[in-house]
Amino acid sequence: MKTFYDYYNNKVQLSFDSQPFDPDPKHVWVICRYKQKWLLTKHKNRGLEFPGGKVEKNETPKQAAIREVLEETGGEVEQIKYLGQYFVSGKREQLAKNIYFATIKKLQEKNNYYETDGPVLLELLPRNIKTNRSYSFIMKDEVLTYSLNYIKNNEELS
Ligand code: GTP
Repeated sequence: MKTFYDYYNNKVQLSFDSQPFDPDPKHVWVICRYKQKWLLTKHKNRGLEFPGGKVEKNETPKQAAIREVLEETGGEVEQIKYLGQYFVSGKREQLAKNIYFATIKKLQEKNNYYETDGPVLLELLPRNIKTNRSYSFIMKDEVLTYSLNYIKNNEELS
C-alpha cells in the first residue's frame, strides 16, 4: 500500500489489491485509451482529467465506470479492467474510489457531456501536470503516476 498527500493536502492511501479499503466504493475513475491515445474529459470546473464519478443506486462500480466514460467523453468501452482502489481522508469526508483501465472502441458525438465539455485526446500526457492549471486536481497526486506505472508493467492490461 502507498500513502501520500494530494493537491489539497488530504491523505491518500492507494493499493492495487482487490477493493482493499471498501468492498462497496461509491466513486470510480477510469484511465482510458482510444486509438493509441489517452482519452480525457474537460471538466467545466476542475479542468482536464480522466473520466469518472459517483456510483448510482442499483449499479455496480464497473457499470458506473462504463456509464461515466460514455457520459463524459462519448466513449464506448470495449474492455475494462479493475486496477486498484484509493481512499482519500478529507477534512470533513472520506471516500473510496475504484480505478479502472478501459480501452474504447468508438467515440460517439453527443450534445451533452454532463458536467464536462467532452472528450480530449492526447498522444502524451504532459510532464508538468502537477503545475499545469489546465489539469484537474485529481490528476495531480501520485494516484496517476502509480496507476500509469502499473499499466506499463502489466502488459496483459493493454
Ligand atoms: P459533488 O457531490 O459531485 O458535487 O461532489 P463533492 O464536491 O461532494 O465531492 P466528492 O463527494 O466527489 O468528493 C469529496 C471530496 O473528496 C472532494 O472535495 C475532494 O477533496 C475529494 N476527492 C474526490 N475525488 C477525489 C480524487 O479522485 N482524488 C483526490 N485526491 N481527492 C478526491
